[in-house]
Amino acid sequence: MNTLILGPGAVGRLLALHLATRSTNADSVMLVGRRPLPRRQTLTTPTGQTFSQEIDSATAATLPAGLAERAEIVHLTTKAYAAEAAFEAIAPRLAPDTPLVLWQNGYGVQPRLSERWTGPVLCASTTEGAYLDGDTGAVHAGRGQTVIGDLAGRHARLAGHVAAHLSAAGLATGAVDDIRVRLWHKLAVNAAINPLVARFRIRNGQLRDRPFRPMVETVIDEVAAVMAAEAIPAPASGWSARVWAVVSATANNRASMLQDVLAGRPTEHDAILGPLLAAGRRHGLATPVLAGLNARLVDASPAAGRVTRD
Ligand code: PAF
Repeated sequence: MNTLILGPGAVGRLLALHLATRSTNADSVMLVGRRPLPRRQTLTTPTGQTFSQEIDSATAATLPAGLAERAEIVHLTTKAYAAEAAFEAIAPRLAPDTPLVLWQNGYGVQPRLSERWTGPVLCASTTEGAYLDGDTGAVHAGRGQTVIGDLAGRHARLAGHVAAHLSAAGLATGAVDDIRVRLWHKLAVNAAINPLVARFRIRNGQLRDRPFRPMVETVIDEVAAVMAAEAIPAPASGWSARVWAVVSATANNRASMLQDVLAGRPTEHDAILGPLLAAGRRHGLATPVLAGLNARLVDASPAAGRVTRD
């Protein structure tokens, strides 16, 4: 399958390195970013083994003629705030029925591109853990699970096909018929953890201690009210238990939003808090704590366009 991966961050390179191990001369994997990367890329597995692969990379401007036109699938793996611009840079060259898979956090890009793109749009939600090893590789820190589906439930066969392809490449993936609920669930957990740890510059596990614990509970109450109004079913264990389970499982982590703040990068507050605040407004619900956390992140976050990203 000819695959384009837009966004050579950790998830993009993890995908590329797995898919490239299965590609033959008849198909190709191409990474597209803001700058070309060294051709030889190394995957470090969760058990510490390393595998090197040749992976082609290009920018939207240097993508060889015909490659976008021949793409059989596009994986969009940028941060949420960069997704639409990255896709628009190559969309005019794609065949109009090219399947697009969105890997972003939150719930903003997904409904917008599902509406706008002429081809089928799938959304992915993953718990794979990965980080970049400079320009030359990615470290697969922990195995997770990926689920894939489309928002309108129209592309179940395609989702099954893509899930089988990714699973065969070594990334356990299942097709699901409730991806909207899955995306909101991940967003809810992210909203309860990320803005607070970014504000107080603490590791996830410190949220269990005073003075943070009651703050988390207040955020969970606001999130739970919005979810109920949006008719998103709560997890079987309830929102509070779900959030505290993730906090415990990731106690030693510096969450993604904290890493972004510490590195002076834009944060994904628009994708994670934006949909909650908008839904709260639609349903006439007050969300003062979420609004306050969002306002601080807006102030702290450099504008996405001003920062050079992959
Ligand atoms: O964004 C992150 O870092 C993760 O989604 C989570 C669950 C908050 C754990 O660190």
